[in-house]
Order: sequence, then C-alpha cells, then structure tokens
Amino acid sequence: MPGVAIVGAQWGDEGKGKIVDLLTEGADLVARYAGGPNAGHTLVIPNGRGGHDKIVVRLVPSGILWPDTVCVLGSGMVVDPLALSKELDELVAKGLWREGDRRLVLSDRAHMILPFHLLVDGLREKGQFAVGTTKRGIGPAYEDKARRNGVHLGALRDLARMERHVARALDAWTPALQAMGEKVPTPKEVVAAIEPVAARLVPLLGEGSLVVDEAIRAGKRVIFEGAQGTLLDIDHGTYPYVTSSSATSGGACTGIGVGPTAIRRVVGITKAYTTRVGGGPFPTELLDEMGERLRTAGGEFGAVTGRPRRCGWLDLPGLRYARRVNGLTDLIITKLDVLTGLSSIEFCVAYDTPDGRVRDLPLNTLDRAKPVYERLPGWSERIDHARSIGDLPANARAYVERIAAEVGVPLAMVSVGPQREATIRLRDLFA
Ligand code: IMP
Repeated sequence: MPGVAIVGAQWGDEGKGKIVDLLTEGADLVARYAGGPNAGHTLVIPNGRGGHDKIVVRLVPSGILWPDTVCVLGSGMVVDPLALSKELDELVAKGLWREGDRRLVLSDRAHMILPFHLLVDGLREKGQFAVGTTKRGIGPAYEDKARRNGVHLGALRDLARMERHVARALDAWTPALQAMGEKVPTPKEVVAAIEPVAARLVPLLGEGSLVVDEAIRAGKRVIFEGAQGTLLDIDHGTYPYVTSSSATSGGACTGIGVGPTAIRRVVGITKAYTTRVGGGPFPTELLDEMGERLRTAGGEFGAVTGRPRRCGWLDLPGLRYARRVNGLTDLIITKLDVLTGLSSIEFCVAYDTPDGRVRDLPLNTLDRAKPVYERLPGWSERIDHARSIGDLPANARAYVERIAAEVGVPLAMVSVGPQREATIRLRDLFA
C-alpha cells in the first residue's frame, strides 16, 4: 500500500510534529527524508506520575513514541552522530527506546555532519552573507555531499576508511578554514571525536530504501515525514534563504530511495497564519503589535534555537504554490485557536508586482511584491473543544473553508490546540 507524505506548506514550523504523531498511531513505519538536526519536534509524553514531560527530537522521527512503529532516517538526511547519540540518551532515559533496538534504522547512505561543518556554519553566520541558519552544520554537510566529498554514515563501520574520507573533505575545506583564521583539524582528530558513539550507532545502520519498500509491499502503513517547509526547499524555496535539502514531496522519493508510485497522498500542513525563522523575504510579515500578538499567542519561538519567529498573515498564493510543487491531495490547518479573539483576520489573496496583479506566488520578485489582502470577521469563543467542523463558530468555519477553496485542496484536519485530542478530523488519510 503506497504511503502518505507529510510536507510543510510554508517556511517550516507548521506543526508537522503533532500531525505526524497523531497519524503515527495508525502507522507501521515513519521515514524521514530530508534535513537534519535543524528540525525540532517537541513531543509531550505522559511521565508516569500523572503529568507530562516534554522532549525535543531533532533527528529521530516522532513515530518513536509508539512502541511498534519503525522509524527510518533516510539517505537524504544529514546526521550529526554526536547529536543523534545525545537524542538517543534522552529517549533511553524516558523509556522510549532500548539500546540497540532495530526499530530505529539509520540509512547508511545518509551523510554525516562532522564538527568542522558546525564550525564553518557558525563562522559564516557571523559574516555579511549570513542566511540566519540554525548553525547545526546542515549547509556545509550538504555542500560536501554535492561536491562528492561527503562521508556516509555507513563509514562508521570502518573508522580507518572513514579517516580517508574525512581527509578528502578536509582538504576541500582547508582554504576556507584558513581564510577564516581557524586551525584545520587533522582527520584523526575528527574521527576521534566521533569514535565514542560509533559502536552505538553501527548496529542501527541499514538499507532505509529496502526497509521502506518492503513495508509498502507488505501493505503496511507508511508515512514519509518531511522537515522544514516548501519555501525553504533548496530548489523551490526563497533561494538563497533556504535550507540545503529537498523539503518538498519529491524529496521523499530521492531522500528515501523509492519511486513516486510509493506515495499515494501528499498532505500539506499550514498554520492559520504564517511564520518564518531566519532571513529572507516574507511579504505578509507583521512588524507591529499584531505580529507580537501572534508570536505570544502562538508561542512562536524556535524549538532548536529559541529564536523568536517572524509572524504574519496567511499567504494564499504561497499555499497555492505549495499545492503545485508538492502535488498536495490534502490540506491540514494548524493553530487555528491562536487567532481566537481577533476582531478580524486578514489574508493575502494575490500580489501586486512590477508585472501586474498575480494570484501565483511571484517567487522571483517576492522582495518587491505587495500583498493584496482580504479580511474576514474573527471570533471570540474558545475553539479547543471543537471535534467537528460544525463545532466551530461560524466565522472560524468560514475562514478555514475559504482557505481550502482558495488553495483548491480538501481539508483533512484542523488543529485547534496543542493536545492530541484538540483536532477536527475530516478525512482518514490511510483510507
Ligand atoms: P539551515 O537549515 O540551518 O541551513 O538554515 C537555513 C534556513 O532554514 C534558515 O532560515 C533557518 O532558520 C531555516 N530553517 C531550518 N530548519 C528550520 C525549521 O525546522 N523550521 C524553520 N526554519 C528552519
């Protein structure tokens, strides 16, 4: 049975963690296909003492919460072995994973983020061409992959061989590191830094593509979990203010190693408004009190870096673009509750550009495009108890229905609060 891909329809942080977590309850396998520890999902789990604990997972898919769900880190990812090992410590401490449990599969062709990648990322962010990255070494690790100097995670099996691969990568970085006044580490030093976690990770290495293919052929329920969002995609995002991987649904195929026929539904997740972290154009950004209000009400601070997120109104041309480049079959709107209490809600329906008014996202002139807004009346009632669309106040319902109509994709869910139960489910995504 082909799987379901979950993608961010904006600039990331759309609430994919909660949705994947909800869907995973009925899934056998979750495969993450892109990015690395730049992502961050906050998981809320019962602590056995009547309360809840929070943990943030960056690399491991949130499916790890369900004891029988297999979690695959795909070959399209970049994996920092030290960060992964720390994440595993937390999962072990919380009783969510046992040492050596092969429920977690690390694709041996995923690329490693090594300490010098973090160093370069951090140094560049101090310079005049900063992008506002998460400084987790993502860009430099993907650069090594593209210039064929990368080091596969599978190299952990043979550290002497790994040292030779690291030497190649370091050779390419030496001029840059020297120009930045940094001491160039030796390959031995780099391998020595990773060696303490190698024995722990090696038993988890495997062929992610094969594991996913077998699950699909056996009729299992498979989720392809994207990271970041459409507009941060290396090819289809607001370049150069993007991440370095394929966040869109096409990335699920290349990042796992399956064909397009392995996916039958593509679910786009959007907030009821828009946020972005880091630099780059954001035409519907609100730099006034309204932006502050959204940030406070929505708790809009980065899960990885703690940075305040930039906030603004919903961008419908952006969502139509996400429909197009991902082939969305379903739409999920999250954080609708954050808009409760506003007298009216604005949303961008088109852009005025040097070439006239357009309904499509003018990606090449976004920094000069002027949003054209419409407005709908807001609602003041709490909505976190809503479990069907009919439970919503008429104005909230009108807003979400307008979004689905404008994007041209049916609604599958509306999230009305952070808890699992605070969800309106409209379609069974595995049906
Ligand atoms: P990098 O992925 O760390 O290289 O950062 C590149 C851009 O992507 C920056 O603007 C980051 O803020 C943004 N970014 C990376 N990961 C996330 C995420 O999970 N949520 C939101 N923005 C992200």
